[in-house]
Amino acid sequence: MSLVKKIMNARLNYDGHDYEFPILEGTQGERALDIRTLRKNTGLVTFDPGMVNSGVCESNITFVDGDKGILRYRGYDIADLAEHCSFLEVAYLLVHGFLPTPAEYNAFSKLMNLHSLLHENMRNFFNLYPDHAHPMAMLSAMVVSLSTFYPELELDPTEAIDITVARLLSKLRTIAAFSYKKYMGHPIVYPRADLRYCENFLNMMFYTPVNDYAPDPVITRALNQLLILHADHEQNCSTTVVRGVGSSRANLYASISAGVCALWGPLHGGANQQVVEMLEEAMKSGLSPRTLVEKAKDRNNNFRLYGFGHRVYKTYDPRAKVAKKICKSVLNHLNHNDPFLEFAQELEDIALNDSFFQERHLYPNVDFYTGLSYRAMGIPINMFTVMFAIGRLPGWIAQWLEQHDDTAQRIVRPRQIYVGPELRTVADSLASTPYTHPATK
Ligand code: SDX
Repeated sequence: MSLVKKIMNARLNYDGHDYEFPILEGTQGERALDIRTLRKNTGLVTFDPGMVNSGVCESNITFVDGDKGILRYRGYDIADLAEHCSFLEVAYLLVHGFLPTPAEYNAFSKLMNLHSLLHENMRNFFNLYPDHAHPMAMLSAMVVSLSTFYPELELDPTEAIDITVARLLSKLRTIAAFSYKKYMGHPIVYPRADLRYCENFLNMMFYTPVNDYAPDPVITRALNQLLILHADHEQNCSTTVVRGVGSSRANLYASISAGVCALWGPLHGGANQQVVEMLEEAMKSGLSPRTLVEKAKDRNNNFRLYGFGHRVYKTYDPRAKVAKKICKSVLNHLNHNDPFLEFAQELEDIALNDSFFQERHLYPNVDFYTGLSYRAMGIPINMFTVMFAIGRLPGWIAQWLEQHDDTAQRIVRPRQIYVGPELRTVADSLASTPYTHPATK
């Protein structure tokens, strides 16, 4: 049942005709021009590269106000959730629409434990990759391969959704940790029944037979909060891909695997890795923060200040505020004086006071500080985007399920404006050029 209200009509005068299209309004006052009858009535399509101005669905999962810097999951403010909840509670909230009771949380946690192992055959997959294979490649391949081990989702897409959600959330975390061990050449560490979600992940990552690792509660708390910050963000690039693949009725594993690939891009989730590489490169070559800002302003190169700017936020990304606090608390707790943080803060101050950035409303986004926290935790740079994927997984699942149940949704199939050659024939082409087709030699 649609929750948007039709509040008025907009009129289009085109080719001597007047057309009317409804203006819709959502529960938080967002307004949209409803063009669902545009092509049928006028023969026109809209032209909107990157879908910058296009709403593609109704959703009651996440609300973002880019001008005011507001982010809410199911109505809860992101800072409130990061302060008071665990990542698993927020994952449950995103999928179900309400926070779990203690009994629901315990049942969900038990399912997570039950589904935390990979099929032993999947362990062999890791041996077939080259030594320093990027973990995002392994993650995407492993997730889609889960559909071969758990085909029931194909047969019964309404399989108890908690099992599917728990299986994906839990196994993606195991795949991530196993890919780290593969990269390090260390023996893999299995999940443990006595550890909660983030502790289990950190233990699978850092325990070795010669390092009796014990998860640090402050680090575990910080990791819960970082994953919460990444859990959903309405119709971002990778979520649009997950919905797009799901719109053809491909299974959830295939859709999530495609989302992992979209997230990998340096303009999207790959930016957290790019931020630290940018800082590393600048400091190694003795560039000052001011020089880096000037380089980002120079239109003669396509260098960008990674971790800055956002398609929707035209003010400080509320997640970046929380991520900056987490970063400082992690570094203080570890008594880790990271020169990268100092450089990053100076970079932020200069950029925020620079007219180029101010005119374009470029502020730190979620990726600017998160990598510095992961680095301090001992997580290697090529795992940063994997951390983003672990965090974003419940949001992808919730969005996929919402689309799956939305009767108004159709297979994604946008239009275009064709600017290619007019009709021509092979015979004409052969006749008009000295070209001799190999087959006629
Ligand atoms: C994420 O959509 C989401 O919700 C994504 C995300 C999520 O949770 O899913 O929030 C996660 O992807 C965060 C963004 C991470 N990416 C980066 O940090 C990469 C650096 N940022 C940019 O590439 C850029 O800001 C984007 C890609 C994030 C947004 O690009 P847009 O909206 O397409 O903006 P644009 O490229 O049209 O830029 C507008 C202007 C341009 O200058 P002019 O042509 O007007 O002169 O701003 C400039 C751009 O050159 N600009 C930058 C810049 N970002 C934009 N200039 C320098 N440094 C930057 N970072």
